[in-house]
Amino acid sequence: MRHLLDTKTLGREEALRILDVAEDMADAQQREVKKLPALRGKTVVNLFFEDSTRTRISFEAAAKRLSADVINFSAKGSSVSKGESLQDTAQTLQAMGADAVVMRHGASGAPRTLATSGWITAGVVNAGDGTHEHPTQALLDAYTMRKRRYGADSRGRDLTGYRVTIVGDILHSRVARSNLWLLNTLGAEVTLVSPPTLIPQDVTSWPARIGYDLDEAIAGGPDALMMLRIQQERMNAAYFPTEREYSRTWGLDAARLAALPTDSIVMHPGPMNRGLEISADAADSARSTVLEQVANGVSVRMAVLYLLLAGERNEKEDAR
Ligand code: CP
Repeated sequence: MRHLLDTKTLGREEALRILDVAEDMADAQQREVKKLPALRGKTVVNLFFEDSTRTRISFEAAAKRLSADVINFSAKGSSVSKGESLQDTAQTLQAMGADAVVMRHGASGAPRTLATSGWITAGVVNAGDGTHEHPTQALLDAYTMRKRRYGADSRGRDLTGYRVTIVGDILHSRVARSNLWLLNTLGAEVTLVSPPTLIPQDVTSWPARIGYDLDEAIAGGPDALMMLRIQQERMNAAYFPTEREYSRTWGLDAARLAALPTDSIVMHPGPMNRGLEISADAADSARSTVLEQVANGVSVRMAVLYLLLAGERNEKEDAR
């Protein structure tokens, strides 16, 4: 794998390979092999132009558990505030020896620009770009669903027939887009539920059912109900119902949680707006996989960095 920029162009075999290697990584961690030598001598740069808790820390943990060196760059407090360009910033980091650049940016397409510009030779991983994609979030979500569906050893298996309902601010959500493409590739059935003002115009060309009624979607008994964060920072006020109306109509509360089949899981990529798209009852319930998703994210990001930087080497050998 040279770069990981999206899930729309990620093939089934490549996606399954990442999920399978992630399972190897998780197994190694469970055997108390906290640190693997696979990426010794490699340098991973976290290049973040937007805020992050989970993704940045998860990539840092993943790189360190593979024995790579990590440089954390945050645009805030850097020379970006003095007007330094993306090209100069990236080339400065490359000059410090970056082998991989994990990039989050507010502009859709920025990681692709970096990967294809010729400015740097490092592999590029998209850690979330504008409203476009967040591929490692979708991979960790699919990993979580696969584990819940198949248990201990789910290697080689896809999500054929698995029914996923994604609820909320689809318009601004890179998580929804990356999940939609990946889940479709893996054979899952996706339903999107949203206020009519928070659904993109081109949604009719997406491989998903579209709905506007959360209670109807819950009555359909999805295997996974994924609640999305309302992205206030990207929101045009005209698109958004009042918070009270939103939580009453599209929020997952205790009553809706009780109406879900008992074996349905409740997912959220985080960070959560508790009391808006998800109530504390639902977020902290036994059916919530929120923290499981975070933990799985480290294994998935280890797999991505490993496949990017260690190439064709045998990961099972490395995991021993
Ligand atoms: N899910 C996610 O991307 O969270 P962060 O913004 O905290 O990285």
